[in-house]
Amino acid sequence: MARIKYGIAAFVITLGWIGHAAAAELEYGWAQPRFVVPPDVTAPSDPLYRRECSTCHMAYPAGFLPTRSWRALMSQLDQHFGENAEVDRQTQAKLLSYLEQHAADRSGDLGSHRVMQRLQANSTPLRLTDTEYLRLRHRNVLPRFIDNNPQVKGFSDCGACHFRSDQGYFNEQYIRIPGQRRH
Ligand code: HEC
Ligand code: HEC
Repeated sequence: MARIKYGIAAFVITLGWIGHAAAAELEYGWAQPRFVVPPDVTAPSDPLYRRECSTCHMAYPAGFLPTRSWRALMSQLDQHFGENAEVDRQTQAKLLSYLEQHAADRSGDLGSHRVMQRLQANSTPLRLTDTEYLRLRHRNVLPRFIDNNPQVKGFSDCGACHFRSDQGYFNEQYIRIPGQRRH
């Protein structure tokens, strides 16, 4: 008798679970990932930052560099990787304030935590691509995926491979290297 009871209970639970899953499919659609993972870093939301710092490249997520890096970078915008990216003083102050508030050493995001874990105390990288964490994570990304690939401007062109980078997603689910077959 007990076995039948448990059998029925298990059956009812299973039915409920299937119903729940079906409802979720209806609500979110088939294209959505099964488990919603949080982004690696917070996507840049500040309209001023998005406008001012995305004319030559994507607006890089603040959470991939520490405060000291953003301060150094923002203090020499007239000599910005061979370009003049100067803005007026007021704009500069507002941009820096935004970057500081969301920098890797202030953010609770997993991606930021990982950057900080590997950062040498005496280093102030001016590039995300110069942080130990991102160097390490890309050690298996073959140079031929980047060099001579007309669809990738360089390692700094995150969005070319990370197609949801504008929303802060960098994990494997959202990577596609242009010109390569999907693996
Ligand atoms: C006039 C064009 C221009 C503007 C405007 C500009 N940048 Fe850049 N930025 C560049 C160039 C060029 C590079 C080097 C890209 C490369 O090496 O592929 C660069 C690189 C960077 C990098 C390093 C990327 C990496 O990890 O390799 C950061 C960080 C950066 N810029 C932040 C900013 C911020 C913050 C602003 C807004 C205040 C800004 N940029 C505005 C031209 C610009
Ligand atoms: C040529 C393509 C390409 C470019 C450009 C690129 N990445 Fe990646 N990235 C990858 C691949 C492929 C992996 C996975 C590597 C592996 O697992 O061995 C990866 C992994 C990562 C990861 C780890 C994700 C996780 O959840 O484990 C982060 C974070 C990341 N990239 C950030 C960046 C940032 C920031 C930039 C730009 C500054 C960038 N990537 C530029 C291809 C690229």
